Amino acid sequence: MIGQVRQWLGAARHGAGLTGAGMSAESGVPTFRDGQTGLWAKFDPQQLATEEAFRANPAMVWDWYAFRREMVARVEPNAGHRALAAFAQRHPQRLTLITQNVDGLHQRAGSVGVLALHGNISEDKWLDAPNACCNPSLALPGSPPCCKGCGNMRRPAVVWFGEALPLQTLADAEAAAQECDLMLVVGTSGLVYPAAGLARIARGKVAIINPEPTELDSAADAVLRGKAAQLLPQLLED
Ligand code: APR
Repeated sequence: MIGQVRQWLGAARHGAGLTGAGMSAESGVPTFRDGQTGLWAKFDPQQLATEEAFRANPAMVWDWYAFRREMVARVEPNAGHRALAAFAQRHPQRLTLITQNVDGLHQRAGSVGVLALHGNISEDKWLDAPNACCNPSLALPGSPPCCKGCGNMRRPAVVWFGEALPLQTLADAEAAAQECDLMLVVGTSGLVYPAAGLARIARGKVAIINPEPTELDSAADAVLRGKAAQLLPQLLED
């Protein structure tokens, strides 16, 4: 089957990659829903990944993201991240990379123009619309830092449950899906929309890379049962 997908890739003028937490699993970043090791097996997303939760307990939520930020800063992109970046460097304009991941590992591997649908955990922004007094560099330190003028809080620049995705990023991702000849869907359970929907609107062939069955398998033209850092280098080498 990998030979078939390599053929599709060779013929593809417009490739798209859609990645999820499994893409970073071999770098040591836990996924969200894998058995007992997934983050959501240990932590309640409703208590930690919603605006309501942040307003109810800003310190707990801020500290939890600070813990994840430190974890992400300690790990390195894996061979899968590097293979995608190298392919795009060898074949400019032939691969649009769309990710649900907030870990920045694609970008650290050298991928440019990554469409990060769910934001970036290493960045933060104001919780409420900033007032004239809201200057990030003058924010009072703390969990979370806040504006000394009005108390506006800093929050992680990620998309929380119940929040809209960045409009332009989503529009660019939908355009890439509707234009693609081949979409590689790597390391996602396909449970979270609108991201998972991109695989369903893909114009071209859809090939899934995942060691486990996913909700998107029925929408796929090929399913490669394996891990991202092992299969992507084989798939993407010239
Ligand atoms: N290589 C490829 N896939 C893997 C690997 C690996 N080494 N290890 C695990 N996987 C697969 C799992 O089998 C699973 O299907 O990665 C998938 C991870 O699924 P989730 O934990 O649900 O992560 P994801 O699909 O990215 O979640 C979507 O949900 O929690 C929110 O905003 C968060 O972006 C996230 C979104």
